[in-house]
Amino acid sequence: MPDRPRRIVVAITGATGAVYGLRLLQFLRDAPGIESHLILSDAAILTLHQETGLQKREVEALAHVVHKVRDVGASVASGSFQSDGMIIAPCSMKTLASVAHGLSDNLIARAADVVLKERRRLVLMVRETPFNLAHLRNMTAVTEMGGIIFPPLPSFYHQPASIAEMVDHTVARVLDLFQIEHGLAPRWQGMQAGSTGTDAS
Ligand SMILES: Cc1cc2nc3c(=O)[nH]c(=O)nc-3n(C[C@H](O)[C@H](O)[C@H](O)COP(=O)(O)O)c2cc1C
Repeated sequence: MPDRPRRIVVAITGATGAVYGLRLLQFLRDAPGIESHLILSDAAILTLHQETGLQKREVEALAHVVHKVRDVGASVASGSFQSDGMIIAPCSMKTLASVAHGLSDNLIARAADVVLKERRRLVLMVRETPFNLAHLRNMTAVTEMGGIIFPPLPSFYHQPASIAEMVDHTVARVLDLFQIEHGLAPRWQGMQAGSTGTDAS
């Protein structure tokens, strides 16, 4: 284990689903041994306000370190800065395209580019529907480069009682990809005997 906190870069972009980034930040703030690095896009500030009512400074207060999206000289813009990976939650089609084409046109795209070149973990919680061919090709390109395309699609088998539970279930799966311990969602133990109405004996 490195003699430093586990550093996770969290970017929030202007796709709907700002709550995923927010919930991640809330979790990482209180997780032992974690240092979160936040980058907000300009469009994310709009969606955060529209969807959660929160102002930029309230979201930034949840992160351990905050970087400006135009600050391409920030620590996370360099591969020599040791991090454990990056989550873009949610990831717009515009940011997906920047990452897929290695544009590094702002700090979010640059930090993702660095994570890919250093062969660290990159998770893109892409959100759009339906997808056009450019979206699909860009997702393929990122996958070919080693990134993980993780659309925040809710599941129902755990019978969520609220939107918060649905969000937590998805965030839990993302944390699993980084081997970060959590108790956000119960783990599947297999079908319970009798729950299908068939005789399990
Ligand atoms: C309320 C709202 C919802 C949006 N939802 C999406 C979305 O789900 N997916 C997407 O790709 N873009 C969405 N957009 C458009 C993006 O915000 C826009 O393409 C922006 O340029 C993305 O920039 P960014 O990637 O730097 O945040 C939405 C915009 C608004 C205002």
